[in-house]
Amino acid sequence: MTRLFFASLILILSALNLQAKEGMWIPMLLEQKNLPEMQSMGLKLTAADLYSVNQSSLKDAIVLFGGGCTGEVVSDQGLILTNHHCGFGQIQARSTIEHDYLKDGFWAMSQKEELPNPGLTVSFLISMSDVTNEILKGVTPSMSMKERNDIIRSNASEIRKMATEGNHYEAQVRPFYYGNEYYLMIYEVFTDIRLVGTPPSNIGKFGGDTDNWIWPRHTGDFSIFRIYAGKDNKPAPYSKDNVPFKPRRHLSISLKGVQAGDFTFVYGFPGRTEEYLPFQGVDLAVNIVNPIRIALREIRLSIISSYSEKNDTMRLKYAAKHAGIANGWKKWIGESRGIKRMKGVEIKKEFENKFAQWAGVDEVAQSPFQGLPAAFEEAYTPYKKWKATETWLNESVLSVEAIRLARSFTPLVSLCSAKDSTDLSIKTLTQKYARSIDGFFKNYEMRIDRDILAAMLEMYIIKANGNAEQPTELSELYRTYKGNFKNAAEDLFEKSVFTSKKEISALLENFRRKDIKRIKNDPLYKLAIQLTEYNKRIVYPHIIAFDRKFDSLMPIYMKAQMEMQPDKKFFPDANSTLRISYGKIDGYSPEDGVTCNYYTTLKGIMEKENPEVYDYVVEPKLKSLFFSKDYGRYADASGEMRTCFIATNHTTGGNSGSPVMNGEGQLLGLNFDRCWEGTMSDLMYDPDRCRNISLDIRYCLFIIDKFAGAGHLVDEMTIIE
Ligand code: ARG
Ligand code: GLU
Repeated sequence: MTRLFFASLILILSALNLQAKEGMWIPMLLEQKNLPEMQSMGLKLTAADLYSVNQSSLKDAIVLFGGGCTGEVVSDQGLILTNHHCGFGQIQARSTIEHDYLKDGFWAMSQKEELPNPGLTVSFLISMSDVTNEILKGVTPSMSMKERNDIIRSNASEIRKMATEGNHYEAQVRPFYYGNEYYLMIYEVFTDIRLVGTPPSNIGKFGGDTDNWIWPRHTGDFSIFRIYAGKDNKPAPYSKDNVPFKPRRHLSISLKGVQAGDFTFVYGFPGRTEEYLPFQGVDLAVNIVNPIRIALREIRLSIISSYSEKNDTMRLKYAAKHAGIANGWKKWIGESRGIKRMKGVEIKKEFENKFAQWAGVDEVAQSPFQGLPAAFEEAYTPYKKWKATETWLNESVLSVEAIRLARSFTPLVSLCSAKDSTDLSIKTLTQKYARSIDGFFKNYEMRIDRDILAAMLEMYIIKANGNAEQPTELSELYRTYKGNFKNAAEDLFEKSVFTSKKEISALLENFRRKDIKRIKNDPLYKLAIQLTEYNKRIVYPHIIAFDRKFDSLMPIYMKAQMEMQPDKKFFPDANSTLRISYGKIDGYSPEDGVTCNYYTTLKGIMEKENPEVYDYVVEPKLKSLFFSKDYGRYADASGEMRTCFIATNHTTGGNSGSPVMNGEGQLLGLNFDRCWEGTMSDLMYDPDRCRNISLDIRYCLFIIDKFAGAGHLVDEMTIIE
């Protein structure tokens, strides 16, 4: 028994697992880890075709779009595709009531018409390299965590400095496998990115939040941008003299479409997964943290909807905020259900029982792994209550927009109280605030925010009682207003300068040092500071104490899991670095008695059509194209217009906009979502239910060409018929 038994058990398990396509792999390591399997599944390319630093490779066509999405270059003039929901912020910012690009779409008919987007960046990964040894230089096993971290930090900054000396690149050092490995990433960051095209929201967001995370899906989730560079083809700040960037590589686009069983892979920047947590971590996420967030967001969402459903201006103002809040809300519901259904916590527990036996029977007398399960239990037990408190606070009262705005004035308060601060520095800072005030109020509705404050106070003071620690300030507030939260919110909003653009702007206009009293005594500022202080003084010490323990245990546990299962291939948790996932086109069964096909068609859009419901309004032009079946070369073999498809690629937030490619590396579609039943894949992947959802590239091109009449953009692309 014991060792041998477990070794063979693991072998059997990993053999069974061979068909499961879990994983987000490091492109530079594919050769040794994944290539044979990828090729056996249908990849026709070599490792160097996918990733190389010496020659152009597919990686040169993949970009980090903004801070949290992926995009891909599709023409030799720097044209990039990403999701509509990734460009949403920009499309919204360029929209006005007269030019509502969100509603009507936007198509630049020439490069002159393309719209600049201040603040938007697009980054290419130039290279990555393993710097584990360099990072750990000087680190010894006997060091404290703090000493260790200090050395790592200073080594990292040295490495970054060397990597960017004499060039225009940016560098980043990131831990992988919880600090068992470190990699240096070098990026080229472009800052002049222009909006080229977007379909109307009826297409780009068809199905809206109702269909979000749901399969079958019919969302035309794409938007088009172009990278501009200086005359030397290098990144340059916006200038009308900039020229379209000449990329090292752009993707070819296949019109052949997908069939069940086809190999696909996804290249992109997945944000965050936590696949290797002990069971307590999974339990905490899905049974404590998610339910709190879900309950509180439900209330915020219903308040926003109650206003925006009746009023177009409010809809426009709150579109992005609503989508953001709803997106997390729905994902967490799916995640908690998914883990429960696959018995994720139990699976982890079972694994940990085996782990305890394995660690216990290690020949090394004192196994470094032996105490891990107990140490995790000891760390998580007191942490649960504090994590719940933090979640309650942040998702309730501290989510109120005016309170966040008020809190952002802390630096001004500090500056004004600092004896050595100059009037000039105060003036510079107030001017900065004055500018950000415009942006804040452009998309702000006082009544919505006020109702949210009333509801959040009630939730925290009444509902969280017993589940989360209560700051005394909130109990006082309760007494002052005799439990009437509506009155409380009205009164606080009435007396605060942060709920009125006029008042706060007037205050900032001729701001003098002594005016800081107005801010310090502002009731919303006071509440914001009290709660933030409470977090800092009472809650965070517990959170930080946990993080410290966790950060010291997890690297060991990660290493142990790898040692225990020598035949299993481990991918590092996602950390917003470039990865490749691969899998197959495949339908699935979301629940007993239901099977889902792997693709959807335009017919489904017509079936979902409902002129009364905002999410399901169909554009007249799209309808007429449907009735005339005018799909041109974008139709499938049977003459249908396919809209979306699903596959088993393991993806997460950040993979939005990622290219989904065939065995030849040609673009088949744009990843934009996951099936609801599979959103637990951030914690645990279930090959039966985890599917990524992609927009069929043929539908995207059809919209550009036939719907929008912007065929000149398709002409720029390399199309494989
Ligand atoms: N669920 C997708 C993602 O996580 C799409 C989100 C945007 N769409 C929406 N209806 N909110 O980003
Ligand atoms: N929509 C997500 C994103 O913005 C991708 C969906 C997912 O979480 O897999 O990255």
